Amino acid sequence: MSAAARLVDALLDRGFNRPAVLDISEAALEKSKLRLAGRASQVHWIVADIAQWEPNRQYSAWHDRAVFHFLTTEEQRLAYRSVLEKAVAPGGIVVVGTFALDGPERCSGLPVQRYSPESLAAELGPAFACTAVRYIDHATPAGKVQRFQFSRFVRQ
Ligand SMILES: C[S@@+](CC[C@H](N)C(=O)[O-])C[C@H]1O[C@@H](n2cnc3c(N)ncnc32)[C@H](O)[C@@H]1O
Repeated sequence: MSAAARLVDALLDRGFNRPAVLDISEAALEKSKLRLAGRASQVHWIVADIAQWEPNRQYSAWHDRAVFHFLTTEEQRLAYRSVLEKAVAPGGIVVVGTFALDGPERCSGLPVQRYSPESLAAELGPAFACTAVRYIDHATPAGKVQRFQFSRFVRQ
């Protein structure tokens, strides 16, 4: 998972053991660490480009909200898929949220790739079977609505 979202807080609340949070931005991780205060030491913080990261263990769950859609070259997307194949244990759950086909074309000033559940599944490849899809309209602090698709997969 990457920083800023409060999923990590909820996982710690529920007793998950040492969840890992990865982000290319050290500043984003620092923000989350500050928020978690004393509980930050219970998290494995990783500063890395997800397309170049070398996982050294396998995880039972993977959650990506609004990171994959920043990978706009085929090379980056293939690298992400390879990381995912290495990092997620068979039977593990993968949730990837991206801007939907009718979502914004840019995020934080950067171009993004938008997905349907089908085009996302094609990017992740046959090792990940899609088991659920949900569309969410995310309201930004500036009052804009961003349409996301969230797809859930099981690692084969
Ligand atoms: C829109 S924010 C989403 C943050 C968080 N997942 C959430 O839901 O609130 C996108 C995040 O992706 C991170 N990011 C962008 N490209 C990345 C990459 N190649 N590897 C890892 N993190 C990346 C950014 O630093 C930023 O924190």
